[in-house]
Amino acid sequence: MARAAAHYRQQLKASPEAVAYLKGRGLTGEVAKQFGIGYSTDSWHGLASAFPAYDDPKLEEAGLVIVHDAGTPQEKRYDRFRHRIMFPIRSVQGDVIGFGGRVMDGGEPKYLNSPETPVFSKGRELYGLYEARTAIRKAGYALVVEGYMDVVALAQSGLGHAVATLGTACTEDHVRRLMRFTDSVVFSFDGDAAGRKAAARALEACLPHASDTRSIRFLFLPTEHDPDSFVREHGASAFEAAVQQAVPLSRQMLTLASQGCEMDTPEGRARFVHQAHPLWSALPEGALQGQMLQAFAQSACVPVQELTALWSAMGRPRGAAYTAPSGTAGAQGYAASGPASPADGASEVTRAGSGFGAPSGAFGGGRQRRPSWPERQAMADPMRRGAAPASLRRAPRSPADWVTHLLLLQSDWWSRLSAEDVDLLTQLPAPHAPLLAWLERDLEEHGPRPWAALQLALEESPERVRAWRQLQNPTGDESELTWDSLRRALDQLHLDRLQQLQTELAARAGHDPSALAEYQRVFERWKALKASLAASASEAGA
Ligand code: UTP
Ligand code: MN
Repeated sequence: MARAAAHYRQQLKASPEAVAYLKGRGLTGEVAKQFGIGYSTDSWHGLASAFPAYDDPKLEEAGLVIVHDAGTPQEKRYDRFRHRIMFPIRSVQGDVIGFGGRVMDGGEPKYLNSPETPVFSKGRELYGLYEARTAIRKAGYALVVEGYMDVVALAQSGLGHAVATLGTACTEDHVRRLMRFTDSVVFSFDGDAAGRKAAARALEACLPHASDTRSIRFLFLPTEHDPDSFVREHGASAFEAAVQQAVPLSRQMLTLASQGCEMDTPEGRARFVHQAHPLWSALPEGALQGQMLQAFAQSACVPVQELTALWSAMGRPRGAAYTAPSGTAGAQGYAASGPASPADGASEVTRAGSGFGAPSGAFGGGRQRRPSWPERQAMADPMRRGAAPASLRRAPRSPADWVTHLLLLQSDWWSRLSAEDVDLLTQLPAPHAPLLAWLERDLEEHGPRPWAALQLALEESPERVRAWRQLQNPTGDESELTWDSLRRALDQLHLDRLQQLQTELAARAGHDPSALAEYQRVFERWKALKASLAASASEAGA
């Protein structure tokens, strides 16, 4: 790798075109040297001059050479990076472990990166960390940006304490690594929608590391800028002034939690309570967690006690009965609210953070979580156990609507579904099956995510929004956003399906003896399921 990097550096000196490109982007030779920037020539075997043994398998392992039709007479080898500006990616120790290569014209992809190797993991490495270590200590904080050029341009302007993720979302590993160097991190994101999505992911990655002594803030640049263009247009001191205005984690959490909630309505605040729960739960125990509990309670217009009781009723292990709060605030708060439509007027807080989406990982996924102190507190309080007020449970609702609605709000429950459940869901008519199929794909890609994030992804397709709007009024109340309630609705759907099957089989039984036997089996299952459903309904109503 080191030899390849030296080779690319040399080629840069020999290429007036590449030098002109970097100059055009405002970089001096000095900064280019500091970051070891190079150039890969426009040839298929450029590296052969640096590596006489061009067929060395190590070149392939390092991702520098691509081998086609390996082991056949047609086997071909060629350079992965051709005609690109080369950014070497260094480990914290300073060893080159990968490259990012940028095209100089409008070619695709804009950046080509080294493939993952045992020493190079994009989910862990941060571009520029080696170069930035000292500056981070001096500045007292690290800046996290999105692009290679952002890091280099900031360094060019004297802001050497920036690092970048490698074209991937910010992960917990990134945060953990960074926190070894500093207790204070400012994420700077592009002002566009993609940047705001990235911010949501970064927030998620930070929550488990947000201990009381750390400072985590979010800087949103004007839409037309990334850090590179901003610092070049406005200068380093303007950038530093912007950093002063960065949003603290606590405010960003409130923004994300209130995403899509009309905070001036009970329905909106009820949804806020749900969206806030996974965010708050991801915080480590401590003073910040306590502060955030109060902040969330205040925003939700419920006493802290009420909020802890509400939260303790969510995300309980399978089989746990729903325990509704006895207070009226909770009852009001949960009455008949569906996910608000994207066109709903968003509160100021919400608008500031619009565009969040796509966090993955930390929100459940079957992970066992210790009960937090409000949960323990609520569990220990027998007055808080009991059924939802009868007035809230009268209206019938469509089980399909309800199931879809619940799974969207609590996507981590998907992993609890049986194969039979999933099969049932795929057979539901539109809009349910298409929405749920989309949810399943999203889960595969991102894992369970809070509704706030999912909603943004959902809104990327007008078709999905239309389908989802059809669920806008899941009749009935929302006092039962629980796994048990989902389970009951699923069983109701199973029941309906079995009944339908019976009708079909009965019609065939006259001329098809096997249909009669099948009818018997289906009937037995229907009977058993009906009995268990009746039992659990009376249990829930007790
Ligand atoms: P951007 O598209 O925002 O590019 O990608 P940039 O950093 O502003 O680059 P310039 O200013 O156009 O040169 C941000 C980061 O996403 C990754 C790279 O790490 C890039 O720095 N990326 C982007 C890729 O890995 N591949 C791509 O094709 C594009
Ligand atoms: Mn840029």
